[in-house]
Amino acid sequence: MTSQHQSRRTFLKATGQLTVLSGVLTLGSCLGGCSDSTTSVPLTGNKVTLTLAGEAALQTVGGFIRRAFTGNNNNLPVIVVRTADKKFQTMSTLCQHESGSVQAPSSGKAVCNLHAAQYSTAEGNFGANIGGQSAPNLQTYVTEFNESTGVITINF
Ligand code: FES
Repeated sequence: MTSQHQSRRTFLKATGQLTVLSGVLTLGSCLGGCSDSTTSVPLTGNKVTLTLAGEAALQTVGGFIRRAFTGNNNNLPVIVVRTADKKFQTMSTLCQHESGSVQAPSSGKAVCNLHAAQYSTAEGNFGANIGGQSAPNLQTYVTEFNESTGVITINF
């Protein structure tokens, strides 16, 4: 065997080991959850109310507002969607992949501005990661609607 063969063989052996090592390191870091860099906001117990009559964008099913409520959701906006005639749901805009910002919804989904994770704004799977970048579902906040007073209460 020539020295050129030996050096090639040594090179391939070394790179093979590096590839295996790199695979092990990647696997090791993913075992903790590659898409689980969850950055949920702790619940504060704050209640924020909206008067339906004062929210033009929420007058029809599918309508939404994207708004920050100071002191809640780490001061980041939430998206409130009228998901049914008498039902409203609220999701954080804090993307659970790498903390991007989920944008205003369109066609039943809201998309993150960083890597395009898609989250449902539909009644049945509100806040669920439904496409694009894989990520945990968005944090949602219990949202109540009092029909008699027309008040929407978001529980942060
Ligand atoms: S941070 Fe939202 S998809 Fe990556």
